[in-house]
Amino acid sequence: MSRSAHPAGPRHADVLPEGHYFAPPADLNALDPKVWARTVTRTDTGAVSVGGLDVGALAEEFGTPAYVLDESDFRARCRAWHQAFGGEADVFYAGKAFLSRAVVRWLHEEGLNLDVCSAGELATALAAGMPAERIALHGNNKSTEEIRRAVEAGVGRIVLDSFQEIVRVAHIAERLGKRQRVQIRVTVGVEAHTHEFIATAHEDQKFGIALAGGQAAEAVRRALKLDGLELIGIHSHIGSQIFDMAGFEVSARRVVQLLADIRDEHGVELPEIDLGGGLGIAYTSDDDPREPHEIAASLTSIVTRECQAAGLAVPRISVEPGRAIVGPTAFTLYEVGTVKVLEGLRTYVSVDGGMSDNIRTALYDAEYSVSLVSRASDAEPMLVRVVGKHCESGDIVVRDAFLPADIAPGDLIAVPATGAYCRSMASNYNHALRPPVVAVNDGAARVIVRRETEEDLMRLDVG
Ligand code: LLP
Repeated sequence: MSRSAHPAGPRHADVLPEGHYFAPPADLNALDPKVWARTVTRTDTGAVSVGGLDVGALAEEFGTPAYVLDESDFRARCRAWHQAFGGEADVFYAGKAFLSRAVVRWLHEEGLNLDVCSAGELATALAAGMPAERIALHGNNKSTEEIRRAVEAGVGRIVLDSFQEIVRVAHIAERLGKRQRVQIRVTVGVEAHTHEFIATAHEDQKFGIALAGGQAAEAVRRALKLDGLELIGIHSHIGSQIFDMAGFEVSARRVVQLLADIRDEHGVELPEIDLGGGLGIAYTSDDDPREPHEIAASLTSIVTRECQAAGLAVPRISVEPGRAIVGPTAFTLYEVGTVKVLEGLRTYVSVDGGMSDNIRTALYDAEYSVSLVSRASDAEPMLVRVVGKHCESGDIVVRDAFLPADIAPGDLIAVPATGAYCRSMASNYNHALRPPVVAVNDGAARVIVRRETEEDLMRLDVG
């Protein structure tokens, strides 16, 4: 589906009130493999299946709304990232995208490491058996307690984010009689957005320590002096949902330059660099993400080239994809409750979830696609807005999309590419019960995060 300026003679139903025109997809029953998990197909009955299971049966067994996650796709993406660098880099899955004990176990089995950014994520990782040395702790304001727990557990690295934290981590490590491996997170002066990147002279954000003005060099000077720290590398994360590799290239170049400056000043060659996460995925058919091997080749070649030019040994690279691993592996399954036609305006299709299970549309104006999955339909495409059941007009799941004109209460529809930052950012607004995450694999389904209950909702109430 593509959004364009109003062409001559559009069909009335395809014109948005804002004056944009949407072309319906050629076949509404088709499922674009770019946005759907790998095992999703439409079967002969017209219904959609995932992992060999019919979505209608899944809805019956687990209820709706539900996040349905394709475990084999998740594992395949882990392996693709792992293999992309030929074992010459470390892949840290960013747990903020979606984390549960089952996910931690899959990561462990597939040879990935894990990036956590809170005590809660750390606790989940450790509880599910991720070896501490394969965990990295992030955060721009880690508490003393979070740092203590991480150092005590023996995490492989803590990514230092401020001058205060350099001292704080060093003191805690020394008190515990340890030397903590750390990286320093720098802000390289590149701000990346979807489809574009803007080089900024000055940083204006809360993360990291600026390269500009020699701040990062000063942080390195201080870290190298402290006995409680073993400075192993430099970290840079430039943004999210990025398609353009140019931002990563600028970032890699500047990080390598810092490594060269460190060598010149201190006679030390730091052995690692981390280029962060942020790689984009397809939310609609208009998006064209890169494959992990292309990304790996591009990052490796730029780092190698820059290091050769600077006379440095090539450091070990690590990356932190979150969305690019889990995002495409899940879809949200909803049941349609009402279809409201506002003549000459818009058609609203209401589902049994909404902004409590996917805040991204309301928060970032994120675009999604949607399909009727409980049956096939030959009806004409109808431009609709898919909305939730919350008490807000901004409770939009999919802003503009085509569904068959015979869409009706009781139909199941699904929004693909909801594996990242949907369950992890879900809320209990209006006392909604957060949906379960159902993992499907090879004809079997199991709940890896159960649906909340009303008891759960009241568990924290006192009195
Ligand atoms: N590493 C660091 C240091 C990060 O801050 C992040 C994301 C990642 C890795 C993983 O980024 P990913 O590959 O998943 O894009 N809630 C927003 C995304 C916030 C991302 C925050 N940091 C969203 O729903 O789009």
